Amino acid sequence: MKGRRTGGSRGSGILAKALDLNPRVEMETLWLPRERVGQGPLILVNRRQPLCHGLPKEQLVSLEDAREPLPEGGSRPLLLEQETARMLRFVLGTLTLSGKIQVVSGYRKRQEQRMLYEKSLAEHGEVFTRSYVAFPGCSEHETGLAVDLGELREPMDYIRPSFPYSGICQQFRKKAYACGFVERYEKEKKKITRISAEPWHFRYVGIPHANIMGARRLCLEEYLEFLQSFPDGTCAFVWREEGWQFQISYQKACEGDTPLEVPKGQLYRISGDNQGGFIKTVWRRV
Ligand code: DAL
Ligand code: ZN
Repeated sequence: MKGRRTGGSRGSGILAKALDLNPRVEMETLWLPRERVGQGPLILVNRRQPLCHGLPKEQLVSLEDAREPLPEGGSRPLLLEQETARMLRFVLGTLTLSGKIQVVSGYRKRQEQRMLYEKSLAEHGEVFTRSYVAFPGCSEHETGLAVDLGELREPMDYIRPSFPYSGICQQFRKKAYACGFVERYEKEKKKITRISAEPWHFRYVGIPHANIMGARRLCLEEYLEFLQSFPDGTCAFVWREEGWQFQISYQKACEGDTPLEVPKGQLYRISGDNQGGFIKTVWRRV
């Protein structure tokens, strides 16, 4: 990635300016290649927005002892995108009874999603399959950012594990939002997501985005549309929680590399949206 530096400062109120308390934030420019639009925790993947680029292999990690049953029989280590895995371990580690939750499914290769889709078609028919199994190339499981969880019980339903709104599962749900996970397919959003309610499917979108989506009752399709109305350099959406202020803005990608201004020496995250742009999230202690 090419890098160029620029200088700059941001105002933070008339009084602060008069007193010269305004911290000068040095900016630098990142140059993001076009393919980065399809990478990051905020990418939208659904039937209308297939995944363009697969996840680079080095970003996948296995989740310790967890094994994933394969539709054709047998099992294999369960893989997730590395930050998703780290945050999932963290949430599960905060629950005293986390052993009662089983990680049922994580990353799937395109071929695995295709096999699952075809097996479901053969066993359950088209209506069921379109409701609960994403078309190959359009599954969040192919991003490594999605995980299916089930309460530990035999037999485990691989496509629709039980994850009720009570007990340990609900405790997980409550903690998950603060750690960047959303329940992706809620009943009242079916018209938008085109997937039936899946209380077991969690999607990592990152901090603070999961909390914002939860507080505003937005699914990912709606949230991205909202963020796309905050063009970088003109305005940002500001969110505060836990002693942090987050400035979130959106920039459309260029045909070639896209320049994006970021504050030097400050925390920030950039994610593509898989729709032709980037979301920048700047973290500031307040
Ligand atoms: N069950 C979700 C929709 C998937 O197959 O990706
Ligand atoms: Zn799932």
